[in-house]
Amino acid sequence: MSKICVIGTGYVGLVTGVCFADLGNEVTCLDVDQSRIERLKQGIMPIYEPGLEQLVSQNVRAGRLAFTTDYRQALDGAEFAFIAVGTPSGVDGEADLQYVRMAAEAIADIAQGYLIIVNKSTVPVGTGDWITDIIRRRRNGTRPLLQFSVVSNPEFLREGSAINDFMYPDRVVLGSTDRQAASKVAELYVSLRCPILITDLRTAEMIKYASNAFLATRISFINEIANICEELGADVQEVALGMGYDKRIGPAFLDAGLGWGGSCFPKDVKALAHMAVLHGTQPQLLQAVMEINRNQRRRVVYKLRKALNNLDEKIIGILGLSFKPNTDDIREAPAIDLIHLLQNEGAIIQAYDPQAMENARQVLKRVKLCETPYEVAQGADALVLATEWNEFKQLDFERIYQLMRQPIIMDGRNLWNPEPLRSMGFTYFGVGRGANNHINNHQPET
Ligand code: UDX
Repeated sequence: MSKICVIGTGYVGLVTGVCFADLGNEVTCLDVDQSRIERLKQGIMPIYEPGLEQLVSQNVRAGRLAFTTDYRQALDGAEFAFIAVGTPSGVDGEADLQYVRMAAEAIADIAQGYLIIVNKSTVPVGTGDWITDIIRRRRNGTRPLLQFSVVSNPEFLREGSAINDFMYPDRVVLGSTDRQAASKVAELYVSLRCPILITDLRTAEMIKYASNAFLATRISFINEIANICEELGADVQEVALGMGYDKRIGPAFLDAGLGWGGSCFPKDVKALAHMAVLHGTQPQLLQAVMEINRNQRRRVVYKLRKALNNLDEKIIGILGLSFKPNTDDIREAPAIDLIHLLQNEGAIIQAYDPQAMENARQVLKRVKLCETPYEVAQGADALVLATEWNEFKQLDFERIYQLMRQPIIMDGRNLWNPEPLRSMGFTYFGVGRGANNHINNHQPET
């Protein structure tokens, strides 16, 4: 059992804190946002994440998890301080480190004895050294020296399955100039029985960026293939299937669609490209990966414009607003970009999402937020599926057909089977589903 302080109760901080508590440690989660901490003390979660609320309440009741805004209380007796604060994109795409700096300064001002500072926030390569400098400089006064080591421990948590990803990781990455400190952090993870890679600080920081950029690249790659498939009459889903059986390629992250969004990929790819340029290299692939992603949204607008002649005063229904299913997060969500692009061409938007309506209300203007998918279809000239929520899988399409003004479906996640929809009379567009000739392709040719 170790005593751990986690700074930041966002996605990463909260999940990390509660999971370490669940593994038997004594954890205090700190945030400077008073109202967030008050709500957490009442059991109200700041984010929607399956299983989180229950795990928090279990661990609070067991006395292993507490919340505070007071650094003194959080750091009292702590052996580890995890920094898990936000690193939003700055104006040029660089990671904004002001919250990391604030956390490092607070540690420098308050910590005593020996502390292992573990950085979980996604930060530019070199930030671990920068944190060390900040603390040394600030502590370099009359006060007793602080004994500390900095370890980088990037997170690989996906929204919607964050607790599972923490408890069953593919790997844990630790980087430090102090190998002993990294080994101590490794002990916190030993019970998870996964590969633990111990490396230097900068390499660990780079592993995080390289991993996310690679996953984003796979998605942009398959989206580019999808667009070519459409033109050449091939089906991208089967292309991905055929590619994925190759063990060197693997099947994951090859779903063509409206592109990647969320709080990580857009920010991290941009930040990596920014770092590369700053240090004199030309990140051509990363630039293309980002551009393909932007264009994937524009392509939908192009398809709809072509189908409807023009979009002015056309009613477009959008199903799904979150950047992916099982989250209420709409940061960089394809649906939000798409809505803005469609509105620019004069379209009237009505939309529905199972979880993200409240967040959408804050950022969307002139959008009718509906109660059900059927209300979205009512009077619509086209229906666009932007997020593949489970509840959209089995819709009553006969009813939708009756409700729509024009029966046009743009399936941005290839969720539905085109054939029955087409025979009902819908005009169906998917992403990269160019083939009309593969219906019996599992039958051997005779
Ligand atoms: C990601 C990383 O997976 C995680 O390791 C990291 O720590 C944080 O960023 P997350 O942003 O929660 O996690 O979402 P993820 O499930 O990875 O999906 C990212 C985006 O890619 C979503 O918009 C999703 O719709 C899109 N996606 C994913 C595709 O378009 N096709 C795919 O095949 C997979």
